[in-house]
Amino acid sequence: MVCLGNICRSPLADGLMRKKIAELNLNWEVDSAGTSSQHQGEAPDSRMIETAEEYGLDISNLRARGLKAEDLDNFDEIFVMDSENYKNTLNLATENNRHKVKMILNETYPNENRKVPDPYFGGKKGFVEVYELLNQATDGIIDRLKL
Ligand code: 4NP
Repeated sequence: MVCLGNICRSPLADGLMRKKIAELNLNWEVDSAGTSSQHQGEAPDSRMIETAEEYGLDISNLRARGLKAEDLDNFDEIFVMDSENYKNTLNLATENNRHKVKMILNETYPNENRKVPDPYFGGKKGFVEVYELLNQATDGIIDRLKL
């Protein structure tokens, strides 16, 4: 799960996936990172933590890190939140792994290349919208990939 700072959107997507994977006893590994390392080592944004908590999800223990080229080899699918993340992630990709990089909302809105809006500079409503979009998208990923 990849966004810009790895403190708002991608840690939420990461936490949602971890919870759903655990509930279904799936043996899948998930992680998240930012195309920028500016927030390296930080906990998720307190507004994202609070919104997740309101839906019964604890993401407070996640810590931000920058995306590395080797992540594109080590994971089977790389989900980005918007077209800027997409472009920056492809800059780390090779011919062999670029096909793994996907816009996450194409799970729920196929081929539309919709973005998960960056909530960082906005209000509470933006964080709730991020939760709703990513809750649906992560359900879509699970339904597509589980046996
Ligand atoms: P994220 O949100 O990419 O969803 O983690 C942002 C976090 C930090 C900044 C921008 C977006 N920033 O400009 O510091």
